[in-house]
Amino acid sequence: MKRILSGALVLYSLLGAIAQTDMTGKVFVFPKESLVHHVLLIPQMKKPLQNFTVCLRAYTDLTRSFSLFSYATRENHNELLLFRPRVGEYDLYIGNEKVSFKVNDDLSFPVHFCVSWESATGIAELWINDKPLVRKGLKKGYSVGAQAKIVLGQEQDSFGGSFESSQSFVGEIGEVHMWDFVLSPHQVHSLYKRETLSANILDWGALNYEIKGYVVIKPQLLS
Ligand SMILES: *[C@@H]1O[C@H](CO)[C@@H](O)[C@H](O)[C@H]1NC(C)=O
Repeated sequence: MKRILSGALVLYSLLGAIAQTDMTGKVFVFPKESLVHHVLLIPQMKKPLQNFTVCLRAYTDLTRSFSLFSYATRENHNELLLFRPRVGEYDLYIGNEKVSFKVNDDLSFPVHFCVSWESATGIAELWINDKPLVRKGLKKGYSVGAQAKIVLGQEQDSFGGSFESSQSFVGEIGEVHMWDFVLSPHQVHSLYKRETLSANILDWGALNYEIKGYVVIKPQLLS
């Protein structure tokens, strides 16, 4: 019995290794508004998070609301969410609480985002194109739940579902990374400059994902 179990574990980890893709130089294109098309990202994570950083690059001409990164647990569908409610504003949700960041959006070029948070102080940072916005604080002392569904292209209003087309993403997303610590300004700068930096929860260079519906992988066109 024990041997069968360990054999199954080896097979499982082999399959896991095979499913990892180096996405360097590529993007997910979300070509069409819908309430179904999305990408499910499968994280390497065992414990709740006291600190995190999520970075990605996105290109869109949407002027309505959309989700950039939707991380839900069974308890909270807005456990960790980066959402743009309107041009010029980004909202970070942690454990269903929200802070807003104001910025001059430029829709004519891909935008690089890094968002980080530490439980000890509750301080959240949002970096846009290597510039830190005014810091905000939320959920001091909280831990972000570990059993998560991470979705690109849609905003989860339940665990892994309940999408709305009015919050769907249309455009291109690439260079998605997630760490269980707060990146230094130097590390954010390196990512912005596309210097390789491997990540321990989600790594664009070794990504585990499932495409659901009409999402296409293409070489990135703009740098
Ligand atoms: C989270 O970051 C703080 C520093 O802000 C550090 O003291 C703590 O050990 C970190 N927690 C984990 C689990 O890495």
